[in-house]
Amino acid sequence: MRITIVGCGVIGSRLAKAADEMVEVKRIYLIDLNRNLSEKLAGELKKAVTVDTVEDELYHCDLVIEAASQNAAKDILAKSVGRGVDVMVMSVGALVDDDFRNQIFERAKNSGSRIFIPSGALTGTDALRSASMDELTTVELRSTKNPRALANIEYFEKKGIDTSKIAEKTVLYSGPAREAVQIFPRNINVAATVSLLGIGFDRTTVTIILDPEVESNNHDLIISGAFGRAECQTFNVPSPDNPRTSYLASLSAISALKRIIRNEWIGI
Ligand SMILES: NC(=O)c1ccc[n+]([C@@H]2O[C@H](COP(=O)([O-])OP(=O)(O)OC[C@H]3O[C@@H](n4cnc5c(N)ncnc54)[C@H](O)[C@@H]3O)[C@@H](O)[C@H]2O)c1
Repeated sequence: MRITIVGCGVIGSRLAKAADEMVEVKRIYLIDLNRNLSEKLAGELKKAVTVDTVEDELYHCDLVIEAASQNAAKDILAKSVGRGVDVMVMSVGALVDDDFRNQIFERAKNSGSRIFIPSGALTGTDALRSASMDELTTVELRSTKNPRALANIEYFEKKGIDTSKIAEKTVLYSGPAREAVQIFPRNINVAATVSLLGIGFDRTTVTIILDPEVESNNHDLIISGAFGRAECQTFNVPSPDNPRTSYLASLSAISALKRIIRNEWIGI
């Protein structure tokens, strides 16, 4: 299998290193807006080369993996499904626009391209997927983060909120997932994943809580419906080089790649 990884930051570089050790992966194409990053990473790996654009290698590639940004995800989804190439998306908020998403899914169906969305930094997606086969009444995501994970967010700056100065546990946002994934495009991708799996972007509710006492990125997923009720808690270790990104998100991308390559679907 030949894969292209777009984005050589925290997730992309961990995934590339893991893929480099997978016997089934024969070639890894790396792309980053910051070419120094992709070249440095390629230099550390056995099977990787850098390329400038997805188009350069799409004809030779079996799977394109986005680990960059919502804009990159939109671009890559459109290009990959247009050519019938499989695609894995980490910046799931890119799928919030209903027209864009429906168009992409429809084109993927016609071209035979598969779209993979890993569970990311969250537990409980397995239960949500099963529960969604009957009526769901509530899907709620409560995320509690350290101020470091909520730094440099335009929404807070516009509201005059300096997250580094908040000394006690505070609810900073509460609203529908559709709004949350647009306001916090780099912080709450799991809200998009949950929305796609469950009751959609408008009925899924998101609460973002800042807590200076916590060191982990915590997600509580609360689901209720015909199946009963589930409360799934995740206490994520943040990545040292990017506190917004939980280590589990990188692991979930690696695990998804393994499942795709080996065609093993345990616990689906
Ligand atoms: N699904 C999840 O649970 C989950 C969890 C964490 C992060 N994410 C998302 O995954 C993405 C990657 O996260 P990360 O922590 O690795 O980020 P990161 O900031 O460490 O790395 C992103 C890299 O992508 C590059 N990049 C950005 N736009 C690009 C483009 N258009 N083309 C090529 N390269 C581009 C940047 O230069 C950077 O090196 C982010 O959008 C993040 O929000 C998803």
